[in-house]
Amino acid sequence: VKPGIAGPRIDCLPEPSGNQTVCESRGCIWNPVDNDIDGAPWCYFKDGVGYNLASQIGSTYNLRKNNGPRNPWGAEFENIQLRTSTIGASVLNVKIGIDGRYEPPVDFPRETISTPETLSFTTASSDDLFWFSVIRNSSNRKIFDTSLGGLIFSDQFLQLSTYLPSENVYGWGENAHQSLKHNFSRYLTWGMLARDQPPNSGNLDTMNLYGVHPFYMCLEPDGNAHGVFIFNSNPQEVTTAPGPSLIYRTIGGNLDIYFFPGPTPALVTQQYLAFIGKPFLPAYWALGYQLSRYGYNGLDEMKQRVGAVRDAGIPLDIAVADIDYMNRYKDFSTNDNWSGFEDYVKQMHGWNMKMIPIFDPAVEADYLPFQRAMSMGAKFIEWDDYSQVQQDIQKLYPMAKDTKIMLGVVWPDHHVGFPDFLDSTGKTQAWWRDELELYHSKLTFDGIWIDMNEPANFGTNELHPWYFDDNDHPNDAPLFCPTNGSNQWDLPPFQTHAVYYYGGNQNNAYLSSKTLCLTGVQNNGTYRFYDVKNLYGLTEAIQTQAALMDVTGKRGAVVSRSTFPSAGRYAGHWLGDNTARWEDLRTSVIGAQEFNLFGIPYVGSDVCGFLGQSNEELCLRWQQMGAFHSFFRNHNTLGEPAQDPAVWPSVASATKTANLFRYQYLPYLFSLHFQASQNGLTVVRPVFFEYPSDTETFDLGYQFMWGPRILVAPVLHQGAVTTNLYLPNDVWYSLFDYKYGSQIDAGYITVPSPITYRIPVFVRGSAVPRQTPTTTTTMSRHNSFELLVAPCQMGRAVGVLYWDDGQKIVDSFDTHDFHQFNFNFNSTSSGAQLTISRTRMGTVALPTMDIIEIFNYPSPPNFRSFTLNGSTVNINVQSSTYSGITKILYISTKNL
Ligand code: NOJ
Repeated sequence: VKPGIAGPRIDCLPEPSGNQTVCESRGCIWNPVDNDIDGAPWCYFKDGVGYNLASQIGSTYNLRKNNGPRNPWGAEFENIQLRTSTIGASVLNVKIGIDGRYEPPVDFPRETISTPETLSFTTASSDDLFWFSVIRNSSNRKIFDTSLGGLIFSDQFLQLSTYLPSENVYGWGENAHQSLKHNFSRYLTWGMLARDQPPNSGNLDTMNLYGVHPFYMCLEPDGNAHGVFIFNSNPQEVTTAPGPSLIYRTIGGNLDIYFFPGPTPALVTQQYLAFIGKPFLPAYWALGYQLSRYGYNGLDEMKQRVGAVRDAGIPLDIAVADIDYMNRYKDFSTNDNWSGFEDYVKQMHGWNMKMIPIFDPAVEADYLPFQRAMSMGAKFIEWDDYSQVQQDIQKLYPMAKDTKIMLGVVWPDHHVGFPDFLDSTGKTQAWWRDELELYHSKLTFDGIWIDMNEPANFGTNELHPWYFDDNDHPNDAPLFCPTNGSNQWDLPPFQTHAVYYYGGNQNNAYLSSKTLCLTGVQNNGTYRFYDVKNLYGLTEAIQTQAALMDVTGKRGAVVSRSTFPSAGRYAGHWLGDNTARWEDLRTSVIGAQEFNLFGIPYVGSDVCGFLGQSNEELCLRWQQMGAFHSFFRNHNTLGEPAQDPAVWPSVASATKTANLFRYQYLPYLFSLHFQASQNGLTVVRPVFFEYPSDTETFDLGYQFMWGPRILVAPVLHQGAVTTNLYLPNDVWYSLFDYKYGSQIDAGYITVPSPITYRIPVFVRGSAVPRQTPTTTTTMSRHNSFELLVAPCQMGRAVGVLYWDDGQKIVDSFDTHDFHQFNFNFNSTSSGAQLTISRTRMGTVALPTMDIIEIFNYPSPPNFRSFTLNGSTVNINVQSSTYSGITKILYISTKNL
């Protein structure tokens, strides 16, 4: 805590307006400070807010509201319970709650992995204030310490505060973070409510974006890592504050907290993903490059841009169709100026390309698919009771007659309903599947893009919504939520940062802004939208993935805009409507690392920028960086000039080079995804994952690891022709144009990175499977394998290759048909040995391995033959080359 500040403060006046009188009427302390120092709240709770321990039976602690101050947002429950339990041997659950309160209907596998690391729970109290700590047994370090006070548990306001063992805290989402590590020198509150909110990377913006991830990882001072997940789906927020401390607030449910002990960052992720669910394995082709835009003026324009990119020789796998392909933006329909789309999709399939169309959840309430939904008994998000139904709107839609469907407004011309993916009868899910199947029989798509699933609704509570100024929505009336003060769901006593910080404009800010009324219900009134809204994207993703697999018989890939913990099991994610600015390129580098921590490794940004006009240099650099993100899609908004790489010769050339590199390393990238799915790992990950005891790596957000042993340092600044980066202490080899294959000194270095170079990439201690690249992943898959060997200081290199048919549905890895090879290279003064062992035998055809490239080979090789499985295999010496200058040995092995 900086001089001049009394100590950590827990905000008692988070609303945007207020003063000393309001503060003191709340029984709180008013003590203005210089906001420039750390932005501490001027109005804060007195000490002693909390509960005392009434009794304890085993691991159940009965807590009673103490005599300390009360909160202004609704009476505390007098009695609450805290229960602790362990899951497996190591995951600690601390649940503070009341039986019978809302629990998010999310079915986590709740598995654990074995680790010797354990945590213990201890409690203490002073005066009549109860608090608890969580301690890492191996180091005796407190990793969570609620002696900060401030435990509040009322019906619609729950708060928990803790001191942290260090400032090295990563995660919480979804927000646009400008640094990987949180900043604890200031009080900063981050909103968490799923909203159709484009990231604003230009200013420090703490706004809540599309998804909700109440999870963080913390690196303790000695490099041990732990993770904390709060299983709560209500609108919520977290304040990162000096101390370092966290103040977490939510407006419903319980405080159901899971502690994952690590002790390495990778183990934390494994423990978290074993619990919430491991990521799905994308189809192999889904790792290919995707071309998208919003605002193609017809099929011809898509053909023209796809054609231009292909003609430029740029590897391209996927054409993406945004809402333009639909007839007046209605799901499951095709626009007249897209006639011939199916023929074109067939043609693309002939080129080994794939097609991903967008589907929005909301369907117009007056056309066939909606009619079919009604006759099948499918459910939509509803008003709580008939008296709330907006009759003037409802009467326009005979198909929705006598229903309580909450009609909203999205892209289609007329009002829409929002399918209820929590419908326990399964009828909604069956209808959604059937519609996708029917449409698939007309347009043979391969993957699915689900958008607007926060869910987004236009113009909610707005008298003059921008969207209705055009002539597209002549009959539409916006949705108005009952905000007359008695509606505890749309106007709860505490409304969170999503309302108090709404782009600086609080006038029109509601929890329901840009979405449906929180008073709505799902599953016949079982769930309040206020509670389950943040699960909408997840539940849509679950059903969409199931439908895609069912309809195509293959695993494909789904990407979703809104996510919640466990969404990675069903879908990937793109980082939303960014802007074509350098700041946004930078935050996307951080965003992709964070979503890997959240268990969604199939992630990337809109390459070249979505909103605003892109430009040659920015687009070139974004293409080069995006080539390392698993979800790799150039996407642009309506009305902006084309920004596909074929627009500028320099971008075409750089993209071709970057994509060929990516396609060459696809066996490696695919193997990373395979391991992530099988074992709950990350693909792109922060550098500190691999170097948790090197403090220089703790805030290295603008570099990242691509798997365990490749480091990428993208160029992220306009005009840059050199890149400053940090290489942790290790033997690194350059994998880009600058001194390819040579050893590069560790430490802070500056390397040349003109636009004609590939971006800086380095490899260490690794045997990396590659393949000769071509212009589609499908064709590349048939090419021979290569192995890159980059030994560490001890002369060793390790690696792994997983290989399946690229599209079969994975029911279980135990029965899935795949090969696994382990690579082990060992070089000593007496010779070098490469062991390739097949540890899993599949039936899928395998190309041969025809090239082995070894870095840092000490001297010209003295051989005429290999020993292969104990037998001598002659090789043609002509087919190996060695350079004494680069020390690269390049061996062509026919038919290994
Ligand atoms: C919003 C999505 O975020 C964007 O990617 C898409 O282009 C538009 N909706 C239109 O579908």
